Amino acid sequence: MKCVKVPRRDLSQVKIPKAPGYDIVFEGDFALIPIIEDVKGLEVVECLPKKRDVTPRLNEIVNGISSFYIIGDIMVLSPKNELPRETLQKILDMYKVRSIYVKKRVSGELRVSELIHLAGEKRTTTTFSENGIKYFVNISKVYVNPSMATERIKMAEVIPPGSIVLDAFTGYGALALHLAKRLGYAVAGDLNLDGLLMALVSVKMNSKKILVDLVQYDAKHLPFRGRVFDWVIGDNPTMIMDFIDEMCRVGKTLVIYKLGRLEEGWERVNDYSKDLVIMKRLIRCNENNVDLSFPESGHQVSS
Ligand SMILES: C[S@@+](CC[C@H](N)C(=O)[O-])C[C@H]1O[C@@H](n2cnc3c(N)ncnc32)[C@H](O)[C@@H]1O
Repeated sequence: MKCVKVPRRDLSQVKIPKAPGYDIVFEGDFALIPIIEDVKGLEVVECLPKKRDVTPRLNEIVNGISSFYIIGDIMVLSPKNELPRETLQKILDMYKVRSIYVKKRVSGELRVSELIHLAGEKRTTTTFSENGIKYFVNISKVYVNPSMATERIKMAEVIPPGSIVLDAFTGYGALALHLAKRLGYAVAGDLNLDGLLMALVSVKMNSKKILVDLVQYDAKHLPFRGRVFDWVIGDNPTMIMDFIDEMCRVGKTLVIYKLGRLEEGWERVNDYSKDLVIMKRLIRCNENNVDLSFPESGHQVSS
């Protein structure tokens, strides 16, 4: 195998395509970078780099991918430029996915991604497991965000056993099934009927102990009695402030997620773009919250 030999101190400045799946070798003051093609202007030597067992990172195979994620056997990516057919085939083979789609943008009230088929099967339905729960989704009809997987575990853990919980913007039921697995039961709703039907399939695919009631509604008018829920989870980050009072009408404590620049009193959950983050906070609802708006509402806010 061939490597480019550079002084160790210059390593961070050397921008060359590395052989995917191989580690850099360090010898004294030098670094040997494994390559697949000769590189002009740099010293090339024979080397024996260690092969990594893991699948190479996507940016090792393709330049110019800003982000990607895999849902079941579908990869969704955001390339900066057009990707050649051979590169797409390489991705299909290496990641063992059946389809590749480009995500254009997330739009509308339902927050559904606009997708363009790039390679492999033209199929947007898939099944996958997250934290021991099986899900069925159609990624062209519901919002899917695998980067919230860890947050869903954290969320399920803070809610005390015995609590009655509403996942108020459930999408395909990602959090609702987690909550129901931990608590035994959860109520979940959304405006998106397709998402709720996916959640129904997922409930049937899992243990009979995961009980979820699914309700279609516009969360501006939640079809529940006052204070019926101990906890209401509001994961609708672009619009959440419009729903605080209605969620407080039916719940005692809220956890809300918001998209924006990180503000004091909010906890960072995920980076969204260079400046924007998804953040969350807890709200203890007041007894007399009618017609009061956040943050002047007097609902007690804690991080
Ligand atoms: C960012 S997605 C989050 C979905 C889900 N919590 C998840 O993690 O996959 C926001 C969700 O809010 C739902 N939504 C938007 N406006 C709504 C409304 N007025 N009433 C009920 N659901 C609404 C969308 O359909 C979407 O599923």
